[in-house]
Amino acid sequence: MTKTLLLLPGDGIGPEVTAVARRVAGRLIAGGLDLAVEEGPFGGASIDAHGVPLTDETLARAKAADAVLMGAVGGPQWAGQPYDKRPEAGLLGLRAGMNVYANLRPARCFSALADASSLKRIHVEGLDILFVRELVGGVYFGTPRGIETLPDGSRRGVNTHVYTSAEIRRVARVAFALARGRTGAVCSAEKGNVMEAGLLWREEVQALRDAEYPDIKLSHMLADNMAMQLVKNPRQFDVILTDNLFGDILSDEAAMLTGSLGMLPSAAIGDDGAPGLYEPIHGSAPDIAGRGVANPCAAVLSLAMALRHSLGEPALALRVEAAVEAALDGGARTADLGGNLTTVAMGDAILARL
Ligand code: IPM
Ligand code: MG
Repeated sequence: MTKTLLLLPGDGIGPEVTAVARRVAGRLIAGGLDLAVEEGPFGGASIDAHGVPLTDETLARAKAADAVLMGAVGGPQWAGQPYDKRPEAGLLGLRAGMNVYANLRPARCFSALADASSLKRIHVEGLDILFVRELVGGVYFGTPRGIETLPDGSRRGVNTHVYTSAEIRRVARVAFALARGRTGAVCSAEKGNVMEAGLLWREEVQALRDAEYPDIKLSHMLADNMAMQLVKNPRQFDVILTDNLFGDILSDEAAMLTGSLGMLPSAAIGDDGAPGLYEPIHGSAPDIAGRGVANPCAAVLSLAMALRHSLGEPALALRVEAAVEAALDGGARTADLGGNLTTVAMGDAILARL
């Protein structure tokens, strides 16, 4: 049966990098992959066209697809809007609407790029961390939330960090299952020393491991210590399990260790059989948008993750990943990697090795 990939190019460099992913998908389709590729409006582009960052129609199409590949959202022209009219609100709405609660963010150091890291090569060569970040709960979505004016005229801002045991366990399951295909080690981060929800996180993760995943080597680390350990000795980690906010912060830190933010893909998945949401880790990069110089590798590698996790094509995923690595090994570099290839030329270099 034909599977469907919905592309949401979004804003800034999003359309430029997803166009390359689309070419790669086209090549695989020409080679026999039974996939239909569609496109929809999203983010700031959707605000301009439809008044909202995520239309009901785009959400319905995303839920009906097998996988969704997003470019990037946001830009200065929408920054002054009320919160619910910003591109970012569309992204949170899409994550929640698709119920993609487990965000997989690999921080992998490509050998050809190890010298671009801010850490010495000996600390990052071979680095291969997989973040599993909870994505539809915690302080991003908890209520009450808002800004209120107090009787004395001062203001009070409130957000609520909240997790239930079920929300913790379902994302921990994803981390444990993925760890079984790696070294079997999971390190879970929280601030159980100051937050009850962090303590619950630690207890639930440990209880699930003891009951159902006794083969997993589980450790716990306070999130501040993890921030420090990630720059001190990042290769001690294999799978890292975090809540939504700590995962946002720590995965940016780990991504930078690899020296190449423009290289890193991500996947957001939910229950078995439900569509996944795939996106580069980088943002819309308004400073270089429209110039055709963005690095398309993260978008192409996000397509590879979609092939693996949502489209049932793990062998094709490996081929796409190998093509990106071979292009890099052959010296292909966009500007962010110290080279001068355009987005399209980098795409050509990848396609030539596919
Ligand atoms: C990310 C981003 C988003 C987040 C923003 C754009 C809402 O930083 O995907 O990491 O905070 O989750
Ligand atoms: Mg972030």
